Amino acid sequence: MWSGTPLFPVSASTMAPRVDALYFFLVGLTAFFSLLIGSLIVYYAVRFRRRAPDAIGARIEGGAVLEITWTVVPLVIVMGIFVWGASVFFAMSRPPDDALNVYVVGKQWMWKFQHLSGVREINELHVPVGRPVKLVMTSEDVIHDVFVPGFRVKADVIPGRYTQIWFEPTRTGRYHLFCAEYCGTRHSGMVGEVIVMEPDEFQAWVAGGRAEGSLASEGAKLFRDLACNTCHRPVAQGRGPVLEGLFGRTVTLEGGGTAVVDEAYIREAIVDPGARVAQGFRPVMPTYQGIVTEDGLLQLIEYVKSLRDEDRR
Ligand code: CUA
Repeated sequence: MWSGTPLFPVSASTMAPRVDALYFFLVGLTAFFSLLIGSLIVYYAVRFRRRAPDAIGARIEGGAVLEITWTVVPLVIVMGIFVWGASVFFAMSRPPDDALNVYVVGKQWMWKFQHLSGVREINELHVPVGRPVKLVMTSEDVIHDVFVPGFRVKADVIPGRYTQIWFEPTRTGRYHLFCAEYCGTRHSGMVGEVIVMEPDEFQAWVAGGRAEGSLASEGAKLFRDLACNTCHRPVAQGRGPVLEGLFGRTVTLEGGGTAVVDEAYIREAIVDPGARVAQGFRPVMPTYQGIVTEDGLLQLIEYVKSLRDEDRR
């Protein structure tokens, strides 16, 4: 009856054993104390039952040792769980620097993936085994949620914001990818597959799938098509900030404060340019909200990332 209905998903990423260890510890701990307390209730109910109709229980004034024990023991246990859980959480939320970046756009009701090489996929994500992969995710409409049970990773995909998860697959194969946030009529059909391949197989797959240019070169094309280059020029006299070498820097803002130029800042600068204007510039840029798609925004971001200081003139 249960064949084909696995009780537990396969363990296919470096994070999976860590999550499972914590999970089984919690289940074991819960089972242990449930049994202990349940047994004691039954035992004491029998042991200290009323033996005569007019019996009166002994008066108890409390016990300091007992009270300290049942405060300190649970405290140590829950703090241990907290530290353990936090260490797993930190490991999950800090992608390694050498991670392979893949952009994800969720929309009702499909998943779109864009590799930096320019290869695009829908409801399928090909990745190499043994290499950390970072997903930078956003949504075109409502909140979705990426969930790959085999990798033990899950994160909301939110419109107007970039969220990240990362994983390092440890074995090849095909793994289910679900939307784990109710997002409308066909939420249950918003599923896909992560296909983990041997590195050389993956290289061959990338080479075979490269239809257009890289994501950055697509962005460069869009940048020219939208005439962004009339204001953002590689020389300091432009009407807009020089973008060469800008990514990752901290800029001072008009009206005080600073901002780190990351994916979220660039996205905001395109769709809501007046929100955080760099110092020395006037808020003259029009919004591109609704003009550039989420896919296009990711291409532009990748283009800005690709611009180096050396490209300045
Ligand atoms: Cu997308 Cu549920």
